[in-house]
Amino acid sequence: MDPYTNPDQQSDTTLQAMITRLEERAKHSVFERMIRDYIAEIPKDRPLVVLDFGCGTGVLIRALEPVLHPDSDLYGADISSRLLESARALSEGTRIHWDKVEPERLPYSSETFDVIIMHTLLSHVSNPEATLKEAARLLKPAGRLIVFDADHAGTTFGLPEYSKMRECDFRLTSAIASHPDICRQMTRYLKAAGFELRSHRSHVLSECGRGDFWLSSVKGFARLIPALGILSEAEGEAWVKQMLEAHETGTFFAAGAFYTFHAGRAS
Ligand SMILES: C[S@@+](CC[C@H](N)C(=O)[O-])C[C@H]1O[C@@H](n2cnc3c(N)ncnc32)[C@H](O)[C@@H]1O
Repeated sequence: MDPYTNPDQQSDTTLQAMITRLEERAKHSVFERMIRDYIAEIPKDRPLVVLDFGCGTGVLIRALEPVLHPDSDLYGADISSRLLESARALSEGTRIHWDKVEPERLPYSSETFDVIIMHTLLSHVSNPEATLKEAARLLKPAGRLIVFDADHAGTTFGLPEYSKMRECDFRLTSAIASHPDICRQMTRYLKAAGFELRSHRSHVLSECGRGDFWLSSVKGFARLIPALGILSEAEGEAWVKQMLEAHETGTFFAAGAFYTFHAGRAS
């Protein structure tokens, strides 16, 4: 059901909702800070070959372009021609290479990249282990893998009734991510793919009273619910209405955690 697993098979309306959501959330100050946080750890004093694996509209590699060493080579790779089309349009005048790829088979030689970033990719791929193994093949021996993802399994939108809230959270997050629990599996997956976990960082993004980041996610869900079929149209409308009312009356609650994992190839 996860629309990010096969964007090119989505309707124009769903695809546009996905593009809008990716672009909007990247501009949110808290999300931006989480990105800045791990960008700060990437060396800037020498040229690097960097891959944004699962780049979507390219928000991440576009943010990196002006801050990295000017002789760096930057690549955005994605399975979706349609998202790459918007990435190209949004990055005119930059020196980013955009490549359409097959899942788990990227058109680059082994040990090409100094840095590989997977920014909210792994929770959406059909095979996270194979995707990480491909990253291990592509990374230089001293290279760095950065995996940033949402712990969708813990994302929650407050409703007055706990059992209903659990049910809606489960249905929505299972529909929006193929692997809502990816962050909880990362230590195992990294090890199995030949990586060594060097460090990790977690961020909680919570909103109490009024919504902002999570409210725009609710609006995104409102556009996606009919296509995802996770809630009936009436249930979906009622859920969105409750969230908007909670925001209006200052009783909104939503929270979710995000993780950044830094890894290198195991010695
Ligand atoms: C949630 S979006 C994230 C896009 C971008 N990294 C961002 O955070 O704005 C997930 C992206 O992964 C891409 N994707 C899904 N499966 C993939 C795979 N096996 N290999 C490469 N990209 C994939 C989708 O096309 C989509 O662009």
